[in-house]
Amino acid sequence: MSFIGSHIISINDFKFSDIEKIFKVADEMKPFAQKKLITRVLEGAILSNMFFEASTRTRISFGSAFNLLGGSVRETTGIAASSLSKGESLHDTAKVLSGYSDIIVMRHPAAGSVATFSEASRVPVINGGDGDNEHPSQALLDLYTIRQEMAARGRGIEGLKIAMVGDLLHGRAVHSLCKILMLFNNIEYHLVSPKELRLPESYFNDLQSTGHKVITSSQLGEGVSNVDIVYVTRIQEERFDDQKEADHYRGLFRMNQSIYTKYCEPNTAIMHPLPRDSRQQANELDADLNQNPNLAIFRQTDNAILIRMAMFATILNVEDRLYDRTYPVTWFTKKRGASTQK
Ligand code: NCD
Repeated sequence: MSFIGSHIISINDFKFSDIEKIFKVADEMKPFAQKKLITRVLEGAILSNMFFEASTRTRISFGSAFNLLGGSVRETTGIAASSLSKGESLHDTAKVLSGYSDIIVMRHPAAGSVATFSEASRVPVINGGDGDNEHPSQALLDLYTIRQEMAARGRGIEGLKIAMVGDLLHGRAVHSLCKILMLFNNIEYHLVSPKELRLPESYFNDLQSTGHKVITSSQLGEGVSNVDIVYVTRIQEERFDDQKEADHYRGLFRMNQSIYTKYCEPNTAIMHPLPRDSRQQANELDADLNQNPNLAIFRQTDNAILIRMAMFATILNVEDRLYDRTYPVTWFTKKRGASTQK
């Protein structure tokens, strides 16, 4: 794809070479993210960061990424605080907001809503999560992290064995991750979920028809044995009609150090798109794993900045001009040169 001026709605639009391009630019963002140097390459540009559904890291990391490139950020959070609650259509909201901004990131509870919005937008739109459908920037940062984790083990992504655990029916992060991994060869997907929360049939068929191996399981121990990555997800309670039904599935899979020791390979990396539901009745990823060096969840969140900076820079066509306007960092920071890697 030509990134310049493009909407980023679905991983379906990505080719292998597009991913390589984003990852190369993401690598070049490290000096800025680590506060070695300031760039003002997007000075004057405005991001509208429209989050019509709960978010912490996606919203803040998109905003911070834009700020780190020198741009300004305007935000709306929640439907109640926006004119969507007065009955405004996505079409009209898009026409208005695209007049105020150079690029828009949008999260919305309805599948397909960001695509609809983008059709009426005069500026590029990035999907920050549309209902239970997709979350493309999450898949990019997850894949970037997987590549890093595997490289640290002297491996590449081809032939990867990954367990995906939890609510695979509603989880947009796993949906986009399944699609992006499909672009590689010979991936082994271990899908661990209750029967009712299995990956949608269409994904399942696509994985198999593109020659990957799919193994399903409803047992956590069995599912996480003999894999390189365990990718845990939250029961997406906001997607259920009935809270009681969601509660029924919470706490069924609890990944912790003793399961890790008993079933996982010694070097298996543990990932999660976050937030992990740490309430007692769920506790899907126990804090007793926090000291495990293979827990990659905060390497994922740090990588989010690099990937989202790279997305903005390529879409707005400044990736070759990052050093046009740079300044030294003059304040105290422990970040400079620091690495969150193991
Ligand atoms: C995910 C999401 O919103 O889809 N979170 C995120 O963006 N990192 C996963 C989740 O909420 O469970």
